Amino acid sequence: MSRVRTAVLISGRGSNLKALIEAGANPSFPAPIVLVISNAAAAPGLNYAAAAGIPVKIIPHGDFARRDEFDSAVDAALRSANAEIVCLAGFMRLLTDEFVQKWHGRLINIHPSLLPAFKGVRVHERAIAAGVRISGCTVHFVTPEMDSGPPIVQAAVPVHSDDDPDTLAARVLAAEHKLYPLALRMVAEGRVRLEDGKAVFSDCASMDEMLVNPRISRRSPLC
Ligand code: GAR
Repeated sequence: MSRVRTAVLISGRGSNLKALIEAGANPSFPAPIVLVISNAAAAPGLNYAAAAGIPVKIIPHGDFARRDEFDSAVDAALRSANAEIVCLAGFMRLLTDEFVQKWHGRLINIHPSLLPAFKGVRVHERAIAAGVRISGCTVHFVTPEMDSGPPIVQAAVPVHSDDDPDTLAARVLAAEHKLYPLALRMVAEGRVRLEDGKAVFSDCASMDEMLVNPRISRRSPLC
């Protein structure tokens, strides 16, 4: 099995990065993490990369006058590491259309809601305010519009009536840590691809994996 070199972009805590590093450390996992890029020098998540001996590149966005210059520096770092897939994991910068186009079908993001609900920030606060009974998380292909690319996999969690944004965030985050490695595996194995703005699955088994919780118990009628 040829493994697919994967880079992770972060801005902060890095708990999803940690989940991806742990998955990638298993030789049977198809996507080892070979580079971590942060736009923030103080991002705590950088410690996970250092502990795992993974090269780190800090590219402070404030060093660049324009967004496209920052994105070009990120792109250059990815290419010099021969990265083939890029995972955004709590990376809180908008990427230019040009960058997104360059990495078309190879750029994925995790978002702490069941997209297309609750794009953007203060997700859990807004979910609670809206009174939804179910929330969750989504790994999606990145397209130019923020949090709008086609979902690859999703996981649902209940919203309890006594939840506050922190308790709901913790429940969703635990699901994120399972979901992101699963999605990365599917992309690295070529079992899902971005085609005409949709996530297209190569087989029924892959489709069965796209809803993580609750798990689909029988084959989708689309299969
Ligand atoms: C995660 O909950 C991730 O889904 C969210 O930021 C958090 C990062 O946590 N991302 C977004 O909201 C992107 N729109 P982490 O740094 O511990 O992985």
